Amino acid sequence: MLLFICFPGWADEPIKPIPLKVDYDKAKAELGKMLFLDPQISSDNSISCHSCHDFDHGGADPRPVSIGVHGAKGNANAPAVYNAYFNFRQFWNGRAKDLKDQANGPIHNPVEMDMIPSDIEKYLEQNGYYNQAFRTIYNHPPTYDDMLDAIAEFEKALFTPNCKFDRYLRKEISLSASEAKGYRLFKTLGCITCHNGINIGGNSFQKFGLIIPYRWSAKFPDRYDITHDAKDKNVYKVPTLRNITLTAPYFHDGSVATLKEALQKMAYHNLGFELSEEEIVAIETFLKTLTGERPAIIDGAP
Ligand code: HEC
Ligand code: HEC
Repeated sequence: MLLFICFPGWADEPIKPIPLKVDYDKAKAELGKMLFLDPQISSDNSISCHSCHDFDHGGADPRPVSIGVHGAKGNANAPAVYNAYFNFRQFWNGRAKDLKDQANGPIHNPVEMDMIPSDIEKYLEQNGYYNQAFRTIYNHPPTYDDMLDAIAEFEKALFTPNCKFDRYLRKEISLSASEAKGYRLFKTLGCITCHNGINIGGNSFQKFGLIIPYRWSAKFPDRYDITHDAKDKNVYKVPTLRNITLTAPYFHDGSVATLKEALQKMAYHNLGFELSEEEIVAIETFLKTLTGERPAIIDGAP
């Protein structure tokens, strides 16, 4: 007897496409969207999640470092919330285990939203819309924990399917010669050893300065901060490269303004050599194929 096993086109590729559909609870996600956009859940009523994770900037912050309540300056560049659901951990150093755990961070952070849970619960209870929505969806008055749950559910819906590269992986289209060359270089030069999987990153911790040490202008919590293991110094979660042309500036301190410079630094410090101008152009052309569709939930589609 012959057994035919059908593998999808990408089975042997180190990068996997974003699924076309992600299951999430629509009512919770819509509630989460309102909360994500609501500056009232910050101490001076000026900062929402969206203030630092801009839907028109790939879900990231165009400013090198974020600005929180009362104009407080943070110390990091806000990464994309788009596709963050597919990351194995959250935050640059992975200190949150999932999106719900993560959402708890900025709300308390004195340079971000600076709120305490009981004040948020009071606000949600006094607001007619929220009060009703929480009771309908969660069967009890609004709680802080359910608010985190709703926000995390909304973030699940922030996926960006159907980028050109995913369509290539699904064998629906082919890449241009320059895009294909960029992808080949991305694999053969070694970028793929750290940037792979569904998010082309987001699935491992790696050192910045693996081959040639890299010095940041300011200290920022790395994996060492959590593990106190010397080998974790300057180790961070590898960021996603999806929608990367939308999310400048780059690196955790937002110190690099252009993608070109980010590629040069990556190749030099993490692979140990300088890219030629031709290689940079090809890799950039490949990276441009990673821009997906704007998440449908943002503009109100079901
Ligand atoms: C004042 C700016 C600011 C606000 C407000 C803010 N964030 Fe962030 N966000 C950041 C910064 C900066 C980081 C990275 C911090 C770090 O890694 O230490 C981050 C990280 C994240 C991440 C992790 C992504 C990843 O790839 O690791 C998610 C998810 C996220 N924020 C969602 C939210 C949600 C939800 C809210 C609202 C409850 C919110 N943020 C409010 C600035 C902000
Ligand atoms: C040894 C693992 C490793 C290798 C190899 C590697 N990277 Fe990275 N990459 C990282 C890490 C870790 C970061 C995050 C650094 C930070 O900001 O703390 C990063 C960041 C980036 C960023 C910035 C992303 C952002 O959102 O700020 C880009 C772009 C990038 N890499 C592209 C590449 C390319 C192209 C190559 C191959 C030339 C490459 N990387 C090779 C680990 C790696």
